[in-house]
Amino acid sequence: MKTFYITTPIYYVNRFPHLGHLYTMMMADCVARYKRQRGLEVFFLTGTDEHGINIERAAARDGRTPEEQADYVVSYFKKMTAEFGLDTEHGGYDIFMRTTYPFHEEGVQELWRRAARSRTPKGREAIYKGFYEGWFCAPCAEYKTEDEYKKPEHAGDPPLCLVHDTPLDRVAEESYFFRLSDYGEALLALYESRTDFIRPEARRNEVISFVRGGLQDLSISRLKSSVSWGIPVPDDPAHTMYVWFDALSNYITAIGYGNDERERVVGFEKFWPALHLLGKDILRFHAVYWPSFLMAAGIEQPRAIIAHGMWLDQNGRRMSKTLGNTVELDVLRKHFTVDAVRYFCLREIVFGQDGKFWYEALVDRTNSDLASGLGNLLSRTLTMISRYCDGRVPSSQISEDRYLVAKRAGVDPDPQSLSSALEHARDQFILNFEEFAFSRALDNVWAIIARVDKMISDAKPWELAKDESQRQTLNAILYRGAETLRWLAVLLYPAMPETARKIFGQLGINYDPAKIDPAQLQWGTLEAGTQIGKVEPIFPRIDKAKTMAEIRKESERGAHATEADAVQGAPTAAQTRPEPPMKGATEAEMVAGASQPSPEGVTSMIEIGDFMRIDLRVGQILTAERVPKSDKLLRFTVDVGEENPRQILAGIAEYYEPEKLIGRKIIIVANLKPRKLRGFESQGMVLAASIGEEGKPVLAGFVEDVPNGAKLK
Ligand code: MSP
Repeated sequence: MKTFYITTPIYYVNRFPHLGHLYTMMMADCVARYKRQRGLEVFFLTGTDEHGINIERAAARDGRTPEEQADYVVSYFKKMTAEFGLDTEHGGYDIFMRTTYPFHEEGVQELWRRAARSRTPKGREAIYKGFYEGWFCAPCAEYKTEDEYKKPEHAGDPPLCLVHDTPLDRVAEESYFFRLSDYGEALLALYESRTDFIRPEARRNEVISFVRGGLQDLSISRLKSSVSWGIPVPDDPAHTMYVWFDALSNYITAIGYGNDERERVVGFEKFWPALHLLGKDILRFHAVYWPSFLMAAGIEQPRAIIAHGMWLDQNGRRMSKTLGNTVELDVLRKHFTVDAVRYFCLREIVFGQDGKFWYEALVDRTNSDLASGLGNLLSRTLTMISRYCDGRVPSSQISEDRYLVAKRAGVDPDPQSLSSALEHARDQFILNFEEFAFSRALDNVWAIIARVDKMISDAKPWELAKDESQRQTLNAILYRGAETLRWLAVLLYPAMPETARKIFGQLGINYDPAKIDPAQLQWGTLEAGTQIGKVEPIFPRIDKAKTMAEIRKESERGAHATEADAVQGAPTAAQTRPEPPMKGATEAEMVAGASQPSPEGVTSMIEIGDFMRIDLRVGQILTAERVPKSDKLLRFTVDVGEENPRQILAGIAEYYEPEKLIGRKIIIVANLKPRKLRGFESQGMVLAASIGEEGKPVLAGFVEDVPNGAKLK
C-alpha cells in the first residue's frame, strides 16, 4: 500500500492553543482524511516542542518544573484535539509527538552525530565549535541580525524583537555552529530541481531570494549553564542543543529514525519523506535549515513544504496570545459545530493567504452555505422522500413511455447531464484538493448544491405528486437529489467528517463515507428501496444578533484571562518595561471595599444598568502567597468557574495570613480591566468591607455553600 506522511508544526508549551494552532491541525487533518479516503496508508503527526529557554522561563515564572509546564500545556492541546475531533479516537492524528520522549533524544543525537561526521558540499566539517556573540529572541527561539530587531529607545537597553516587541537576550559564549554558509548552492539547486518543494509559489520565491542573499553559519548549541532545559550535545554535555535542531528532528525521530523500537512500530523507512504543513512564520526554519541538516546527515529531503497564511484580527494584526487578540477556542466551540469551523477555515480564505477572522462571517457562512445551502438540500429531499415515497429511496427509472410526460414537466428523463456535471465537479474537486486549493474545491461542491436545488425547485415535486402520471418523474427527481447528496457527502468527508456521516445516516446508508474513494464514485449506486434515517437539520440556523451579543461578552471575559494565563510566554517581570503609572492605583486599592475611605452616604444614584455592567462572581481561592518586596499584596489563584483559574492580587497582606485563605469562597469583580502590580497581572478584584479609620479589609463571603463562578445580581 502506498504511504503518506503529513506533519503540523509541533507547538511551544508556553502558551495555550488558539485558533492559529487549531487551523494548521484542521488543515492537516483534512489532507490526512482525504489521503486515507484515496486508499493511502497515512501517518499524521502533531505535537509539542517542549525544550528551550522560553519554556524554562515560563515554567520558572509560574513555579513549575519545565516537565510540569509541558504536561500542563499538553493537556490543553489534547483537550483541543479531542473537542475538535482531531485526535486518534476521532480518526485524526496518529501521534501526538513530544520532544521530551526519550526515543526523540536518542534520534536527535544520532542525527547530530551523523551531521557532525559529514562534510559540507565545499568539503568542510558541517559542525564546528566556535564563539557566538549576538542577540537572541527567546519567544522566537531565533538569533536576530541587525535588520531583524528594533533599536531600543534608551541607550544601554537591549534591542526589541520585531515580532514580539520584547527585549532580546545578549549571548556571548562558546557554541557549536552548523556551517550553513556552505549549503546555499545545494539548497538553490534543490529548489530549482523540485519546483513544488516549497508552496505556494510566492513563498518559494521568498525563500529563494533569502538564500541568494547569502547564508550565515548557524549557532546550534548553548552552554548548559545558560540553557539547561534541552537535549545535550552528544559527547559534550556542557552544551545544550539549539531548540530548532531538536524540534525539527521530531519529524524523523517520531517515525523511527535513530530508534529501533519506533522503527518497528511506525517505520522511518516506510513513511519518510513527509509533507510538512506549517504557518509562513516558520518557513525559513523548514525550508532552509531543515533541508540543510538533512543534507548533512545524508537523509532524503521532505516530500514538500506547504506554508499557509496567518489568521489576523480585525485590525490586521497577526493573532497571537502575546497580543491578546486570539479567537478563544471555548467560545468557538460553544457556538459553532466543529464542521462549521472547519468549513469556514477552508472556504473563507484562499489557502496560503492571510485572512481576517470575523465571528459575523462565521455566523453568515453557517447560515447561508450550511443551513440554507447543504442542510436545506438534504432536509427538503428527505422530507419529500418521507412524504411521497414512504421514507424509502425511490427508483430512478423513467420508462420510455413516460419520457414525454417527464419532459412536459420540464424534467430531462435522462440523468446523464446531472451525473456528468457531478463527475466533472468531482474531478475538479480532486484536482483542487491535491493542490491545497480547498476553497476552490468547496466552490465545486457548492455549485452542485445550487444546481440540484434549482433542479428540484424547477421540477416542483409537490406539483408532480398531485399527478399520478408523473409518479416516475417525481421518483426520479427525488432519487437524483438523494444520490447527489451521497456524492457530496463522500467529497465533503475530509472537510466535514461529522456532517458527511450524518448525511449518510439520514440517507439510510450503512457504510462509512471515509471508506469511499471519491475517484471511484459511480452514479446510481444508492439503492432504491433504502429506508432513510431520521430527518433532522444538520446545521440549525444561528440567531445572529443573540449569538453575537453572547460572543462579545464571552470574548471580553476571555481576553482578561489570556494575557496573564499563568503559562503565558509574556516577558518576565524583569524584562517588562514599566507600566505607565495607573491613575490612583494603590496596592490597597486592589481590594474593592478597601479602595478609598468610604463616603458617609451614597453620593450619587446609579441606574440598574450601571450596576449590571459589573460582573460579580463567586470565586474560590486555590493558592495564596505574599508578593515579594510588598508588605501589602497577596497573590491568589482563584477558581471563578472558568476553565483556567485567574490570578488576582489583593492589598490585604497586613491583615490576612495567605495560608489561612486557601479554599475560602470570596466575591470578585470579574470584568475589571487587568492591571499589573509589582510585575504581576491582576485579573479581577476581591471584594471586602472596609472597617474603621484605617480601612481594615474584611473579605466578603457567604454563609451557605455556593458554586464557583455563580453570578451576583
Ligand atoms: N515550536 C515551533 C515550531 C517547531 S516545528 C518543528 C513554533 N511553535 S508555535 O507554537 O509558535 O506554533 C507556530 C505555528 O502555529 C504556526 O506555524 C502555525 O502553524 C500556527 N499558528 C500560530 N498562530 C497562527 C495564526 N495567527 N494563524 C495561523 N496559524 C498560526 O513555531
